[in-house]
Amino acid sequence: MGEKERTTTGIHGLDPLLSGGFIPGRSILVAGSPGTGKTTFGLQFICEGAKAGEPGIILSLEEDPKAWREDMTNFGYNIEKLESQDLVRVVDASLVRIGLVSDERFSITPQEFDMNQMLTRIIREARQIGAKRILVDSLPALDILHASKPPEYIRAEILKLNYVLKSNGMTTMMITEIPEGSKTYSHNGVEEFVVDGVISLHYLSLGSQSGRTLVIRKMRGTHHSEDIHPMEFVDGKGIVVRKVEDSV
Ligand SMILES: Nc1ncnc2c1ncn2[C@@H]1O[C@H](COP(=O)(O)OP(=O)(O)OP(=O)(O)O)[C@@H](O)[C@H]1O
Ligand SMILES: [Mg+2]
Repeated sequence: MGEKERTTTGIHGLDPLLSGGFIPGRSILVAGSPGTGKTTFGLQFICEGAKAGEPGIILSLEEDPKAWREDMTNFGYNIEKLESQDLVRVVDASLVRIGLVSDERFSITPQEFDMNQMLTRIIREARQIGAKRILVDSLPALDILHASKPPEYIRAEILKLNYVLKSNGMTTMMITEIPEGSKTYSHNGVEEFVVDGVISLHYLSLGSQSGRTLVIRKMRGTHHSEDIHPMEFVDGKGIVVRKVEDSV
């Protein structure tokens, strides 16, 4: 009854919790404290999408792509191979932020490092490979472009980013960092209202026990699980989300 088309999230176990996956062309914010698995989550979304016939762009604003390309091999993902097939394109903006030049094949130049030009560049790269997905890792790294600007300006910039990526038909995943236990889901307090969906990742410890969990906080246009789901990193596979009843 009025079922919408779905596209796989790429995260093992997550599609059934979202009535089949993400709605294509929507935007999702992935929020979590340090080390909760945000980058791995985003890269898995891109790699699995590419394997399923949806090419993807990775805008890396913080971490050196060489490091995460290597880390993802632990989970069985060969990003370089997907890049050589034009199924994934990495646009590096991790060094330009600190005034250094990247030796990556596709990188944002110091002249391009403002929101409008960066968006123009990303859309150009996306069109070249027919991208259907984009990952932005991570939003707080863009703060440097908004330094000393009022909150309304920042809100408008985030709206623009969300609008431009979505209006080009791409399922958009944006990563943000929040302190554990935070009452908001984003850095500027506006991102979670602008996007269509919010998924939060947590690292909890209780006594000598610790564990990772995932919560679908909002997802417009679909029924979704409202439970706190156990989440694991599995060698050779990547992130796996479990049903609550499987956690005992
Ligand atoms: N092979 C692995 N097996 C189990 N856990 C792993 C493995 N590789 C990474 N991890 C866990 O994942 C964490 C890092 O994942 P990731 O880089 O995706 O997180 P993040 O939320 O993006 O981190 P940051 O806040 O630093 O950007 C590590 O701190 C570690 O706990
Ligand atoms: Mg990260």
